Amino acid sequence: MNDIPPSRWALSGGAAHGYGPRFAALVASGEDVDGEARLADALSPRAARILDVGAGMGRVTAGLRARGHDVIGIEPDATLVLQAESTYPGIGLLPLDVLELSSETLEAHGAPTAYDLVVAVGNVFILLAEETEVRALTTLRALLSPGGRMLIGFHLTAGPGGSRTYPPEEFVRDVATAGLQVDLRAGSYELHPANAEYAVWLLSAADPAQEAGGGA
Ligand SMILES: C[S@@+](CC[C@H](N)C(=O)[O-])C[C@H]1O[C@@H](n2cnc3c(N)ncnc32)[C@H](O)[C@@H]1O
Repeated sequence: MNDIPPSRWALSGGAAHGYGPRFAALVASGEDVDGEARLADALSPRAARILDVGAGMGRVTAGLRARGHDVIGIEPDATLVLQAESTYPGIGLLPLDVLELSSETLEAHGAPTAYDLVVAVGNVFILLAEETEVRALTTLRALLSPGGRMLIGFHLTAGPGGSRTYPPEEFVRDVATAGLQVDLRAGSYELHPANAEYAVWLLSAADPAQEAGGGA
């Protein structure tokens, strides 16, 4: 087993954030929680293979399945895996950390090993364990299908408790270190212009020959 350090999410209390029950209540009251899923859907071919990383209480996984995609959600916080199951019965999030992902672990869980789109939205990247951002990006890059892309979103200021500040320049450097490139930066999931509060990133492999299944 790889070394999996505790995430900022776990160290800052995980479920104690109140995120799970808050979103479950929004879903129950019929509020729109699908903004991220709508953009992810627009970025994807029909019936795409999509990996939802840090799926939380499952809203993005569920929203994308409702749009006809083949979605695997992974979530290391056991409380959220249970919360997801109670809000979306049968959702079956895999109890995995992003750093555990590989062809072997995915195959062992009966999941695809290459994806048209990898989604990590709702501040996942500012809640990873310290100093693991490049490792997470590199891990996810290895799971992209040829032409596959990544959708990542996080607060630049006023993030949730326990989160880090991740300046855009540093994120762009880490993206390049992981062999990825920025195709687009926007300020919201409705693609408002880039701003100082929130960043939505669309990434792809800098060298497509290195993608899963890529090459000759
Ligand atoms: C604020 S929640 C957002 C959940 C979901 N993406 C959403 O938008 O509703 C942040 C999530 O990041 C996840 N996370 C933090 N570190 C992680 C890691 N190393 N691997 C996978 N998920 C992680 C947490 O477990 C938590 O579910």
